Amino acid sequence: LAHVDVTTPDLELSTAYYTEVLGLRLVAKDADTAYFKCWDEEDHHSLRLRYSSRIGMDLFSFRVEAEDDLADLESRLERYGCEVRRMHRGEAVGQGESIRFVIPSGQTMELVWELEKTGNLLGKRNPAPVPPPGLAGIAPPRLDHLLINAEEVAEAHTFFRDVLGFRMTEQVLDANGHQLGVWLERSHSPHDVAIVNGPNGALHHFAFWLDDWDHVRKAADILAFNGVQIDQGPTRHGVTRGNTIYFFDPLGIRNEVFTGGYRPDPDFPAITWSEEQFGRGLFYYENVVSQRFLRFHT
Ligand SMILES: [Fe+2]
Repeated sequence: LAHVDVTTPDLELSTAYYTEVLGLRLVAKDADTAYFKCWDEEDHHSLRLRYSSRIGMDLFSFRVEAEDDLADLESRLERYGCEVRRMHRGEAVGQGESIRFVIPSGQTMELVWELEKTGNLLGKRNPAPVPPPGLAGIAPPRLDHLLINAEEVAEAHTFFRDVLGFRMTEQVLDANGHQLGVWLERSHSPHDVAIVNGPNGALHHFAFWLDDWDHVRKAADILAFNGVQIDQGPTRHGVTRGNTIYFFDPLGIRNEVFTGGYRPDPDFPAITWSEEQFGRGLFYYENVVSQRFLRFHT
């Protein structure tokens, strides 16, 4: 996952939250847009905030593995029936050519190869193994994954699997065997993107990585101290096995910090959850399917 681009009706408030509470670095800014990255990220940015009168997601962007992938995926997308728009160097800050298209569940997705390497905070010569002291807020090392909604989860899954080459690690099935949620990866993590039943076009959350459970606990202290509304946790997922805390940014976009999980090989046999056991899959300790968690999205 390269970056997530969202809109905010209060760019100043959102910028204050993402820098001082979440602890990202503001790396570029103009009149209506701000770009942020985590302390251990090499690329130009992982979060873009754009001023708009309404909250929403402009797009989410994945980096492809090789330069030729862009042309290959462009023709596969066109064969599937997507209208693909090619973005040229200079059209988007911090990156070269990319392709943009609307996925079957209505969100705009981008694939990009060339990202401007601006480096992490440690450097490449005799680097310290830990971040420099004094970083504000939670200060996650990197962006990890996002969760989007789809009215037809099975259709979205087929698209991500057959057209884009994502691999499924876990799924939730209803009593009739229909997919209610799928967790997909391209990076040997339990998920790079997850798709759960909900309105087309919606963003459920995006998540930043933390290095261990103790950091999730510290994140909860920082969030509570700053009066941030916590949605769920700190707790553990059954799905992905990860440790997590969910919370809302000042304008209502759900954020997560996440750690743990397993390392699936490309031939990892997918895990299946039944709908009646999904409470444990979602939040293992609480064993409850929270309606706010399922029904609230951006
Ligand atoms: Fe998540």
